[in-house]
Amino acid sequence: MPASIALKQNDSQQDLIIDPGSGLALQGRIRIPGDKSISHRALMLGAIAQGKTTIEGLLLGEDPRSTAACFRAMGAEISELNAESVTVRGIGLGELREPTDVLNAGNSGTTLRLMLGLLASHPGRFFSVTGDNSLRSRPMSRVVKPLQQMGAQIWGRKNNTLAPLAIQGQQLKGIHYHSPIASAQVKSCILLAGLCAEGETTVTEPALSRDHSERMLEAFGAKLTRDPATHSVTITGNAATLTGQKVIVPGDISSAAFWLVAAAIVPGSELVIENVGVNPTRTGILEALDLMGADITLENERTVTGEPVADLRVRHSSLKGCTIAGDIIPRLIDEIPILAVAAAFAKGNTTIQDAAELRVKESDRLAVTATQLNRMGAKIAERPDGLEITGETPLRGTELDSHEDHRITMSLAIAALNAQGKTTIHGAEAAAISYPKFVDTLIQVT
Ligand code: S3P
Repeated sequence: MPASIALKQNDSQQDLIIDPGSGLALQGRIRIPGDKSISHRALMLGAIAQGKTTIEGLLLGEDPRSTAACFRAMGAEISELNAESVTVRGIGLGELREPTDVLNAGNSGTTLRLMLGLLASHPGRFFSVTGDNSLRSRPMSRVVKPLQQMGAQIWGRKNNTLAPLAIQGQQLKGIHYHSPIASAQVKSCILLAGLCAEGETTVTEPALSRDHSERMLEAFGAKLTRDPATHSVTITGNAATLTGQKVIVPGDISSAAFWLVAAAIVPGSELVIENVGVNPTRTGILEALDLMGADITLENERTVTGEPVADLRVRHSSLKGCTIAGDIIPRLIDEIPILAVAAAFAKGNTTIQDAAELRVKESDRLAVTATQLNRMGAKIAERPDGLEITGETPLRGTELDSHEDHRITMSLAIAALNAQGKTTIHGAEAAAISYPKFVDTLIQVT
């Protein structure tokens, strides 16, 4: 029986219905959407640079649309978003205009947190920012506190820890911030604030998080130094103007991860995923799958506008459990739900530790991954900072809930490909945050 995959509108929500049938094997060459982190940064740096930035391969998901809308409201000219080419006419460093309405970051933590660093450092201008239900419940003190140390004035709900936030821009002063968490959003927020602050601003993090901001700030002309030994980055304030650039956005390894795991777990599968960003601060997923015995090879390795890129070939193989903990966690932070799917089909047990950050993502991803996969028959125990997954538990199709989280939706869809019978995922429209054509590709490869 061939696989059947359908999307059904259910009031304002979509149901994704997957029945893998029998003898399913995934085959083909696929392209994935542009990297979400790099897309946000290209739009933001383009908006505050002087002159024209052109962006090829931009992610056309809901999150970058939120970023584009916010920066348009502050005076940047951003052409209609399409993957071929987006043009941003920047308005120059320190020149963001006071918007006439509340800025809405939607579901996007990256939009809100990175933007906050820029808003706080615009003296004399007032901004208010908000987001959707999920974003309004996510912690903002991780960026508000260091910004306040730089002299920022920010107010918000629950003692300035939750959006909506109000910001009265100030002339900030550089600080040396020792971040308690390895977070690229925290690091990037402070570096962006440091661009217009007096003196030098340094961020030291406990482990290296994704470094797309550092790479792109350097390319746009910022004065930035890095000390890899201490995971520190220093930016010099008011040292340079940023100049518009051409940015070619590679495919998002966090989106590729769904297909890597799908082909690894479904017998007889072989996929080539073209044009995937393989920045070493993002390739924890490749290392974890390698530890589990996955058959993945990198082909056609190259560098595209400062970011390493490769095509990934993945073939089915039998997986084994492993332990994922420590410094690798920030390098695969968004891939833990799909790794849990891989682990459910692996031989032996898998332990994921040091991942408490997952509790404050778009949903509580430790709780939601465990409860939803357990509904399918998986054996996953939740720990305060991770998951214990008992491998080789046969999964069966059932009714599932995305919790309006894009990565949960797609992880459950991949689990459904290797389950017995029909799975219905409610709230599947969430995939459009980072992967609007996910279901099209799912149909293409099955
Ligand atoms: C992102 C950083 C990560 C990641 C998020 C995107 C970024 O968050 O989970 O999807 O673009 O900087 P943290 O840095 O807060 O862990």
